Amino acid sequence: MHYGHFDNANREYVIDRIDLPVSWTNYIGTRDMMGVFNHTAGGYLICGSSEYHRITRFRPNGVPMDGPGHYLYLRDEEDGDFWSVSWQPVGKPKEHYSCRHGLGYVKYLSDYSEIAAEQKLFVAMDDPVEIWDLRLRNNSGRERSLSVFSYLEFSFHQVDMDNRNFQMSLYAAGSRYEDGVIEHELHYEENSFQFFTGNFTPDGFDCLRDAFIGPYRTERNPLAVETGQMSGSAELGGNHCGALKKSIRLAPGEEARLLFFLGEGGVNEGLRMREKYSIQKADEDFRRLAEFWNRKLSCLQVETPNEGMNTELNIWNLYQSEINIMFSRFTSFIEVGGRVGLGYRDTAQDAMMVPHSNPEKCRSRLVELLRALTQEGYGLHLFEPRWFDPEEKQQSFQSPTVVPTPPKSQLVHGIKDACADDALWLVSAVVQYVRETGETPFVDECVTYADGGEGTVYEHLKRILDFSAREIGRNGICKGLRADWNDCLNLGGGESSMVSFLHLWALENFCSLAEHVGRVKDSARYRALAEDVRERCRRVLWNGKWFIRGITADNRKIGAQTDLEGKVHMESNTWAVISGAATESEGVSAMDSVDEYLFTEYGLMLNAPCYTKPDDGIGFVTRVYPGLKENGAIFSHPNPWAWVAEAKLGRGSRAMKFYNALCPALQNDKIEIRQAEPYSYCQFVVGRDHSAFGRARHPFMTGSAGWSYYAATQYLLGIQPDFDGLRVDPCIPADWKEFTVTRKWRSSTYIIHVTNPCGVEKGVAEIFADGKEVAVLPILPTGSICRAEVVMGPERKETKA
Ligand code: GLC
Repeated sequence: MHYGHFDNANREYVIDRIDLPVSWTNYIGTRDMMGVFNHTAGGYLICGSSEYHRITRFRPNGVPMDGPGHYLYLRDEEDGDFWSVSWQPVGKPKEHYSCRHGLGYVKYLSDYSEIAAEQKLFVAMDDPVEIWDLRLRNNSGRERSLSVFSYLEFSFHQVDMDNRNFQMSLYAAGSRYEDGVIEHELHYEENSFQFFTGNFTPDGFDCLRDAFIGPYRTERNPLAVETGQMSGSAELGGNHCGALKKSIRLAPGEEARLLFFLGEGGVNEGLRMREKYSIQKADEDFRRLAEFWNRKLSCLQVETPNEGMNTELNIWNLYQSEINIMFSRFTSFIEVGGRVGLGYRDTAQDAMMVPHSNPEKCRSRLVELLRALTQEGYGLHLFEPRWFDPEEKQQSFQSPTVVPTPPKSQLVHGIKDACADDALWLVSAVVQYVRETGETPFVDECVTYADGGEGTVYEHLKRILDFSAREIGRNGICKGLRADWNDCLNLGGGESSMVSFLHLWALENFCSLAEHVGRVKDSARYRALAEDVRERCRRVLWNGKWFIRGITADNRKIGAQTDLEGKVHMESNTWAVISGAATESEGVSAMDSVDEYLFTEYGLMLNAPCYTKPDDGIGFVTRVYPGLKENGAIFSHPNPWAWVAEAKLGRGSRAMKFYNALCPALQNDKIEIRQAEPYSYCQFVVGRDHSAFGRARHPFMTGSAGWSYYAATQYLLGIQPDFDGLRVDPCIPADWKEFTVTRKWRSSTYIIHVTNPCGVEKGVAEIFADGKEVAVLPILPTGSICRAEVVMGPERKETKA
């Protein structure tokens, strides 16, 4: 069963059945101002920080579902009937409403009472201003008298302040109205205003939420809309809203257009922005938004025999990966801003995946992470980049109890709270950045450490590798510490296979960088360490059929062949192969076990069988309900690891079987099971041991976005940027005859046509760049266009240049 369809020509997902089982969300904004909105205009807007600077209020996990939002009501002045353009909150009836989720914008369309309406939400390109673009058309044969009412609820900015201690919060914000502009102020902050206005002279306003809504009512039936009367309320203190009324008459067939602006700044700024954003300027910005995304998407476009993959890689998967890197992971309906800034491991992985489409942001994220590295070599698990920003500005006065500001020394947590994997991701992310951009001098830039002192990027990376070399347990495998990638595997002094494999992977990547920059001594030293790690991994972690997940502090193996629960795990087996620790036969056996024990029609489960008995030696995972989250759900993030592992083993059909099972775009017709949006990877899909098997949860904010994109483009389609050239090494199903990838790299465009005449799954017989045979596609002068022909088949190494 489906609720909508992909409109790939317009790069939109169209929801044409509006009564979805759960919210289907999307993001607006390209810079500091961003918002997350669902299919009925429920959602919220922030600027800069979802913890400290929330512009509109959201009542998370609430009833009714996912509100309030940025709403427009229409009222027929003849009979008093009213509805909302986005169906909710009025909610009558559910037919004739649709929603189009596009890249950086949402459109709500309604056709009620012979009035066609469209509300489009997006953010201006150069100013922190959200634009609501309303278009109306009178499709009835008579003149209509309508009123339009806007509604949004302002937030007390800081998430805690907005949700508790109202004896203070309620007196912290004020509102006023002047010259068609509503001004909202958070008085306990310095110069902290928002404005809400429109490109028209309002016929009424309310700045006070409770005046607009009225007692014992909700957004579904606000008093002001029901009566058609605004009360002109405003006050210092209380809860505030942006409610403007505009009356319009529409002749038969006549159209009207109104713009509303919600932005940062007070009345004067509102006036300035209203002046600046004429209809022409708003349209120009909307075109620029499309260009912004076109530019990103055009960095890599594919034509493959797999339509689901085309939809993902050409549009939605990159979009989702970009949303994560642009805004971090703490703004959604699930992560509602109550945590600070950046998660170390998540950000490092996000930054690794899209340096081709967003080199600036990836670079700045890498720097933020490097600054949050301790001298000991572990990263701060969760941190706010501004803590370590040399240019951070302080407010001139202290807010009473609002934002506690501990001294910097207290922000640096000890090793007790360190996660063993966090900083290891950063090593490969930095190397990947250099491979993509060629910006080698980056590695010699000086960056501070979180706990004082400074060193080059390169030195930071060495400290990370040395930390993992030091922090090993009794069997010589890296300690699990607070957790590894799996937040719920809490091994403390026990040992984590995954971390040792990650260590090896990071070492390999670092050594190739060291060689690239001519640091021969380092490469020799770390290659020797890598060999040592590899040897230990194989000796300690191989159980004859697959790789164990780790060893508890009291020396019990996790994932032994005799285990009844948690027998086979994704993380250890995929990473044994990706890191190169496994021999080919071990890798094949390990990944066959993954297929046998973990594969389902919706993707690969994290572990099987699920844990049912608490075991604190293993960790919290044993206390999670079977089939949910880290206990045997189809956790999406590690699924692409299995595609990479299979690609390394050369098994393209198996890799594509795994890819297709998880692919959201291929589940558009299974929404009665999946429930969640088919244009976004979700954090997890409920696993086989649970009654809701197949239900997807937590869209957008997940490492599966970047990893899916990276694994599919670099390992399945095989387009791999390297220091000195663009490698092409696909791994595809044998029945794929050909595919094309258009890839921008180092200021040139490569149109890469891959054919597979012999029906192989892996192996490249020859590569031609503009007719000349090469081993890798060369770096070309800026602006070049290179036509590459890649023929798969048995390798003919001797002919390569
Ligand atoms: C969540 C966390 C991520 C972690 C994963 C597995 O997605 O954001 O950091 O790796 O869960 O526990």
